[in-house]
Amino acid sequence: MLDLRRQYDSIAAEVLEAVGRVCASQQYILGAEVETLERELAAYCGVQDAVGCASGTDALWLALAAIGVQPGDQVLTTPFSFFASASSIARIGARPVFADIDPRTFNLDAAKVAAFLRAAPNNKLRALLPVHLYGQCADMDSFQDLADEFHLQVIEDAAQAIGASWQTTPKRMRPAGSMGSAAAFSFYPTKNLSAYGEAGLITTNDPDLANHLRRLRNHGSPRRYLHEEFGWNSRLDAMQAAVLRVKLKHIEDWNRARRDRALFYDRLFAESGLTAESGFESTAPIQLPFTLPPAHHVFHQYVIRAYRRDELRKFLSARKIGTEIYYPVPLHLQPCFVYLGYRQGDLPEAERAAREVLALPMFPELKEEEQRWVVTSIADFYC
Ligand SMILES: Cc1ncc(COP(=O)(O)O)c(C=O)c1O
Repeated sequence: MLDLRRQYDSIAAEVLEAVGRVCASQQYILGAEVETLERELAAYCGVQDAVGCASGTDALWLALAAIGVQPGDQVLTTPFSFFASASSIARIGARPVFADIDPRTFNLDAAKVAAFLRAAPNNKLRALLPVHLYGQCADMDSFQDLADEFHLQVIEDAAQAIGASWQTTPKRMRPAGSMGSAAAFSFYPTKNLSAYGEAGLITTNDPDLANHLRRLRNHGSPRRYLHEEFGWNSRLDAMQAAVLRVKLKHIEDWNRARRDRALFYDRLFAESGLTAESGFESTAPIQLPFTLPPAHHVFHQYVIRAYRRDELRKFLSARKIGTEIYYPVPLHLQPCFVYLGYRQGDLPEAERAAREVLALPMFPELKEEEQRWVVTSIADFYC
């Protein structure tokens, strides 16, 4: 599914040099290495500021706190994402609200969000939290329009989408992380840009928000032993920052390699006859990933819909082909969210996606013959 060793082998000398630099500096938490990473990532994402923190989960939590989400507020997100997209809302004391997904992209469906907002004008919604799932931006123009109309803030969950972008006009590409009031990134080891441990980051164009985030990640402390509010220990360590700085130099090449591999899968599947036109209406046994025209997709995952998905997965596993299901249980049906009152059938597209999706091996160093073997094996299963 993912072989991190191949990437490490290609950058080992650079990484070891960077780690050595941190050890020589004896500055292990925050400090110059983290500040430099923050500047470099802000520039990469086209924003004014970036604030490193301990994980993508904390990045979401800190962003919600910094924009002022309070207990009793509501925040609307997708039911089809990693748990943290919704748990961060609950941890701040607010109530997650879910709208269904677009079945083509698996991202939060702006039309369904609009329907919710118009049907429940007296809601306590403070923010929208779209997720750029699998490396493809959600429809940020529509979410921004809705946020303007209903006086909401937008927090992007960009955990899976570093380097992705969304084309707002023919001349304007906006990077993931630059479109909301703030955006959360994760550098979990499997991500496109990944640390050698836990790490996260928040981006924003608002300098006051950035300063607030810097305090919140460090016990609400503007300077040593002065605490103006409650924050957390969510500092980024210098070792992770140093590793991320090495990898940031390669991210464009790695994302390009992911896109090339996605195109190659598309081609192999088209030749296999397993799929008709890629897209949503197909009745073929598998449906390929669908990219909306404004989206520059960075293929954190290459996710198909598959008929008899679970049997196919077992078949591939017997051939030692790793696959994953992101995500088998939609968030509105997670046991810990029973109190929200959602039932099976409430968000049918998210529920269908949970039954049908299958992520295939995808990483920049994946070899052509490995991709051919994956597609041949899937063809063998259906033939
Ligand atoms: C969409 C999404 N949001 C949030 C997170 C949380 O990030 P982390 O694992 O760094 O806490 C992840 C990653 O796992 C994710 O995929």
